[in-house]
Amino acid sequence: MDHHVKDMSLSDAGKARIEWADADMPVLASIRERFEREKPLAGIRISACLHVTTETANLARTLKAGGADMVLCASNPLSTQDDVAAALVQHYGIRTYAIKGEDNETYYSHIDAAIDHKPQITMDDGADVVGRIHAERTEALADIIGGTEETTTGVIRLRAMCADGALKFPIVSVNDAMTKHLFDNRYGTGQSTLDGVIRATNRLLAGRTLVVSGYGWCGRGIAMRAAGMGSNVIVCEIDPLKALEAVMDGYRVMPAVEAAKVCDVWLTVTGDINVIDSPMIEAMKDGAIIANSGHFNVEINIPHLREHAVSTREVRPLVEEFVMADGRRIYLLADGRLVNLACAEGHPANVMDMSFANQALSAEYMVKNAASLEPGVYPVPAEIDAGIAKLKLETMGVKIDTLTAEQEKYLASWNEGTV
Ligand SMILES: NC(=O)c1ccc[n+]([C@@H]2O[C@H](COP(=O)([O-])OP(=O)(O)OC[C@H]3O[C@@H](n4cnc5c(N)ncnc54)[C@H](O)[C@@H]3O)[C@@H](O)[C@H]2O)c1
Repeated sequence: MDHHVKDMSLSDAGKARIEWADADMPVLASIRERFEREKPLAGIRISACLHVTTETANLARTLKAGGADMVLCASNPLSTQDDVAAALVQHYGIRTYAIKGEDNETYYSHIDAAIDHKPQITMDDGADVVGRIHAERTEALADIIGGTEETTTGVIRLRAMCADGALKFPIVSVNDAMTKHLFDNRYGTGQSTLDGVIRATNRLLAGRTLVVSGYGWCGRGIAMRAAGMGSNVIVCEIDPLKALEAVMDGYRVMPAVEAAKVCDVWLTVTGDINVIDSPMIEAMKDGAIIANSGHFNVEINIPHLREHAVSTREVRPLVEEFVMADGRRIYLLADGRLVNLACAEGHPANVMDMSFANQALSAEYMVKNAASLEPGVYPVPAEIDAGIAKLKLETMGVKIDTLTAEQEKYLASWNEGTV
């Protein structure tokens, strides 16, 4: 099978949406033009496991323009846009394995298809390809020169592999680039998570109590945007510094069990497990809506919900009602999977422009430098990060100042103190 998508008749609709996203990804487009001329990835086999969205399609086109032999599979069973998957195969000649709503077995068969491509470069969002290669498909290691990783949770997994001495090749942590997490995780997740909740439920957020678990890059974005829409935001944290920051940013901060009693909408973005656990579920008020925007669907104790509910039903697409023994109703969105990708379309193109510029340039960097890198997790080189910020500002028509010669000298000196 050289591809596996839901319905090829969706391909024209997918192409139109990919072009729409492309119009708002000028940095990636400029990289694509250079890649087209210079072919820095000529003949390199890349297996990418990313959310199959319009923005990812434009990244795949860019890598292909650079000469890469690309295969793409989904990095989440619910995040695939089926029209985009069809368009990638039909209009862009990119072998794609992804179907929205695929079961676990199909999900891993798609990852296996990507590994069968014998990648020289892996491109992950959550480290599922790298994890599978190291655990079950070690024969693939022979061809791999390096990889890239998109998200916080993936980087945490890779660092754990490093600490165990298990990681066998070098990987660039795209998430650690400033032009990635400062913007994608904060403004992208902030906007698209609320977009997911709104599209799924059509509930008003103004005047509602909205709980955010995790005040990292994503949580800050969600809290900020929810407050902007008039929600009363409560933050739950386990890190005193982050909790303090949330207090100073003007939010109420309290333990999750307390928040459960008053929450109307609860969003988890921690990368942790059972953040909404049984005590919170038991304390939750009637009608609460719960959803997750962290990478894996383990942040909410869904097994507890299933075990203790007396009945469940789908009240709207991807909105599941759990009626508890005492009559309380709790609404779970998207089966606890990334709500912004399952119920909306993921991050807007303009922010993915920078994330995927980092991916494309990190793949090029790997091709040039992997031979001299030991297995490990590497940052995106600072020149790439700064270059993307500069280009992004230019595409936005924003000009900034430069240091004068006097300022450069002053900032580099130590002998000019109080005057
Ligand atoms: N939905 C998306 O499109 C999207 C985009 C980017 C990142 N992510 C994912 O979102 C998650 C968070 O990413 P981030 O960049 O914000 O990470 P981060 O490390 O900046 O923040 C995570 C925060 O969660 C807190 N936390 C951990 N356990 C907790 C608990 N039990 N209760 C309350 N808080 C807890 C940590 O102290 C930390 O402040 C990751 O899984 C990441 O992969 C999702």
